[in-house]
Amino acid sequence: MTLEAERATGGGRLSQTPATELLSAWARRGHANQGESGPPAASGLIEFGGGIPDPETLPKDALLAAAARVLAQDAPGALRYGGAQGEELMRRWLAARLNTQEDAGAGPENFFLTSGSGQAIQMVIAAFSDPGDVALVERPSYPGSLRTFRAYGVELAGVDMDEEGVVIDALERTLTTLAAAGRTPRLFYTMPTLHNPTGITTTIPRREAVVELCDRFGVLIMEDDAYGEIRCEGRRPPSYYRLSGGQGALRISTVSKMLATGLRVGWVTGRKDLVDSLTRLRFDGGLSPFLIRTVAEFCSSGDQDAHLEHMIPLYREKRDRTLAALAERCAGQATWTHPEGGFFLWMTLDPAINPAKLRESMQSENVFARTGMQFFPDGGGEHNLRLCFSTLSVADIEEGVRRLGRALDQARF
Ligand SMILES: Cc1ncc(COP(=O)(O)O)c(C=O)c1O
Repeated sequence: MTLEAERATGGGRLSQTPATELLSAWARRGHANQGESGPPAASGLIEFGGGIPDPETLPKDALLAAAARVLAQDAPGALRYGGAQGEELMRRWLAARLNTQEDAGAGPENFFLTSGSGQAIQMVIAAFSDPGDVALVERPSYPGSLRTFRAYGVELAGVDMDEEGVVIDALERTLTTLAAAGRTPRLFYTMPTLHNPTGITTTIPRREAVVELCDRFGVLIMEDDAYGEIRCEGRRPPSYYRLSGGQGALRISTVSKMLATGLRVGWVTGRKDLVDSLTRLRFDGGLSPFLIRTVAEFCSSGDQDAHLEHMIPLYREKRDRTLAALAERCAGQATWTHPEGGFFLWMTLDPAINPAKLRESMQSENVFARTGMQFFPDGGGEHNLRLCFSTLSVADIEEGVRRLGRALDQARF
């Protein structure tokens, strides 16, 4: 009997038990049913969807030129295995940039490069938590990170946010309640700057209080700063890494939002001993030196600054047009955040809106926005929508908001 025929009759020579058990264990760990719900496939759909840069503006010529310079300078070096911590050229540029932005006193030894910040999040969780631990996360939070914590068997305790960021009383209450139950979280995963999904930036006094509380309770702050460079107005507040003197926080960031998601370049900034622990977890031959050197060359030649100078006014206009269109069409049906940058704003629907009806009416109006439930660790979010404006043209933003307004009209209880 051929292998195919044996498989078809279920009569393989080897038992199927190991694979079946692996798959059941996989499902028990909570990997199943955790995907983000995407938009329905439909032509003419206007999608306020995922957080990616405007594809029309990717700097392909400058990246191509940077790649050519890297190969011309040292092709053998660029085309061999990389080191576990990631190319020093890039780490030096990152340290210099952070020190210019906020005098963080960081050196290249404080950086660990990863395949996007998604891998950084995964590796920090893998390195510093055990199954059965509890971690603090904001309510709402980024679903990719919530999934990753769960995949590592970490329970999640949600901390409420308001328009100034993390609510300090809620954080203290949660820490105190957990401590009384003999449970100390090791990590607080937070997006203090241009938060996903709300767009909110946590104020400086709140940041100081978070640093003090986490220090008191022995919790490491895991600060995700994916959108920090996409700032359209206001000053960049100091990071938790800076506010804790480089001790109490690991800062995670990425080129995905300021440059391109497909490059897969992210990093962790932290105390050298913490960075060394992450470096020792890498067994895969390291990231591609060619790719990292190309990004480092792009950044250090000034192309990155020029790119941001070009992009920020575009994102500012898209944000402003989204806000203006909402004010014109959706006032009274919902309220929404006014982010200082980033790609998102967060809508809170009027209680008279029926969320189930809204999902249907958005589909019939051919408009898509992510519904709030997937952003919460522990239920809630039925009355929220996340609107991402980064990839849509201004005309589509305005038409999309008109469709959303009609969908809201049809979704009253
Ligand atoms: C808040 C946040 N963190 C991390 C990521 C992961 O980004 P990447 O792995 O592309 O760097 C995303 C992507 O959407 C995000 O929104």
